[in-house]
Amino acid sequence: MNTPEVNKRSILGLGRHVPTLSYAIQNVLMSIASMIAATLSLIFTMSIVLPLSTARVILPHSLFRRDIPGGRGKVVLIVGASRGIGFNVLKQYADEPDTVIIAASRSIDSLRKAVIELGDTRAMIQCSELDLTTSKKQLAENIRSLDKQYGPVTHLYEVSGISNHLKDGAQWGLHATEDMINVNVSGTVASVLTMYELMKERQYGKICIVGSVAGLYGPANMISYASTKSFINTFSSSLRVLAAPCGIEVVTVQPGFIDTRMTRQMRGQNSTVPGAEFASAERMAAHMKEAVEGGGIGVVSWPIRQSVMMYALKSINPICDEVGRWASMKMGMAGKKIT
Ligand SMILES: NC(=O)c1ccc[n+]([C@@H]2O[C@H](COP(=O)([O-])OP(=O)(O)OC[C@H]3O[C@@H](n4cnc5c(N)ncnc54)[C@H](OP(=O)(O)O)[C@@H]3O)[C@@H](O)[C@H]2O)c1
Repeated sequence: MNTPEVNKRSILGLGRHVPTLSYAIQNVLMSIASMIAATLSLIFTMSIVLPLSTARVILPHSLFRRDIPGGRGKVVLIVGASRGIGFNVLKQYADEPDTVIIAASRSIDSLRKAVIELGDTRAMIQCSELDLTTSKKQLAENIRSLDKQYGPVTHLYEVSGISNHLKDGAQWGLHATEDMINVNVSGTVASVLTMYELMKERQYGKICIVGSVAGLYGPANMISYASTKSFINTFSSSLRVLAAPCGIEVVTVQPGFIDTRMTRQMRGQNSTVPGAEFASAERMAAHMKEAVEGGGIGVVSWPIRQSVMMYALKSINPICDEVGRWASMKMGMAGKKIT
């Protein structure tokens, strides 16, 4: 009921959201520190990193190449190869000679359909059903047996992911969140770590893991999906540092808005992001391959305009972070649904 008493109480409740003085001062300090850190990182990048990168352009390419031990061909395992970004990664390798592609995905039927549509390819493609929601022990066993059967795997592209947009009627809550954690976090981490252990023994490997710019910043109604992607962004960037001494290169991918089934579903659920913002999955995959094959790129965040904006938003203080999450939710950027 809209009685004056209720109105008064809700206005009083609103008052509780006004930051306390000490919290506001802490946020001012955080913003100043962010500006200092951003300035220092800009100076470091311009004075040290840029000259090194320029040398990379001038020096012979052979200096930056690392061949597969034993002169073997590539064995590329793509998890989530049936559609979207993963299928486009598969297309990137399909015409490479002396290459085996292990195309894995939850549904063997959609996988086979996609591979048949490709027609004849120079690379040999093997299709395999791999469900990231199975027990992690089973999943690790399945990956090890793929490695034994077709490998040793030299490249892992871990692309699979789900959001709550995929099923039209699905409600958000514990169940939907568990599903996303199971695929986007537990299943992804289990397959990456299984392959990491195998590659460590061989002192060679390339691992490419798909997180998201949504894990950097996003509307409040992207709560569970964005949290899983924050985990992956952090996990993958840290693994790059840990894995380097073992001869394993890890690349983190943070796509912006890419035109795939996932985002088509989101747009169908009233997302207000203009259609022109959704970039091609084929170009996304080309950037991923370039980073994996060429080296020297830790994070593939693309389209560049979206990624630059999201990195800027990473530095805002907690008060503005809260306001931004609320505003972007109200603007309907991720549609009306909670995911
Ligand atoms: N599209 C974007 O704008 C965007 C932005 C940021 C990040 N991403 C991330 O990019 C990745 C690829 O997404 P997409 O846009 O290409 O989506 P998509 O077209 O919906 O493809 C998702 C892929 O994940 C697979 N998958 C789903 N559940 C699985 C499970 N339980 N086990 C194994 N595989 C499973 C699907 O296989 P089936 O076909 O067999 O179900 C499919 O191959 C995801 O990690 C997503 O979070 C996408």
